[in-house]
Amino acid sequence: MAVLNVNIDHVATIRQARRTDEPDPVWAAVECELAGANGITVHLRQDRRHINDRDVRALKESVACKLNLEMSMAEPIVKIAEAIVPDQVTLVPENRAELTTEGGLDCVQFRRRLQEVVRRMHKKGIVVSTFITPEHEQIAASAATGCDAIELHTGAYANARTERAAQKQIGALVAGRDFAREKGLIVHAGHGLTYRNIADVARIEGLCEFNIGHSIVSRAVLVGLREATRRMIELIDKYGRAAEIRNSKSEIRNKCQ
Ligand code: PXP
Repeated sequence: MAVLNVNIDHVATIRQARRTDEPDPVWAAVECELAGANGITVHLRQDRRHINDRDVRALKESVACKLNLEMSMAEPIVKIAEAIVPDQVTLVPENRAELTTEGGLDCVQFRRRLQEVVRRMHKKGIVVSTFITPEHEQIAASAATGCDAIELHTGAYANARTERAAQKQIGALVAGRDFAREKGLIVHAGHGLTYRNIADVARIEGLCEFNIGHSIVSRAVLVGLREATRRMIELIDKYGRAAEIRNSKSEIRNKCQ
């Protein structure tokens, strides 16, 4: 069963190119849902370069599948998450100069803040995932601070120049998955995944969720968002050994073992 969350930030990026009101990410979310997406992911950045507060509120009202809010642990953003209550937050590092999220969250360095954010999100019933590189200390810190899930950063795999280098990164992701599952964490994956490189990541057994944005929205420019989403789901299904249980809104907790 495919478990694809479509990241629709770039729909808002197009809108912001003219600071107008189209295309609306809410319309995009509907298209993804109609194609069978398991969830919608958006990143509310501190600089609001694409998704804005209104988008997150409107998506909360309109998305029937899972709403996954990517965010930093900056206090104003944490307060917004507490007010809007998405189904899940994925905590990411954020650097104003970056083109997209670079590297994983340092859950060791920011352990105390992470613990506080997890506590506050759980108080609202929000599932917490951390976007991390597959290092044991990051996984251990995510588990120790009470996170429900981790999203393994697939950027190093996506950027690998040779098949050997790519397989080395797959090995690291598999080892990370094993350690995370030992620690009782649900395991997601994302960043840099495309129609060309999804197969080897989809083959990793037991990944519960894929967060994919750039590649899907890029293809959608030519074929439409519904078709682009549908094709990615088809590939995840074809190669996938994802957990059998649909990672849906009502089933997100502790089910992907
Ligand atoms: N997961 C996380 C945590 C991200 O920050 C991003 C980029 O916003 C993605 C997944 C999606 O990455 P891409 O756009 O490369 O598919």
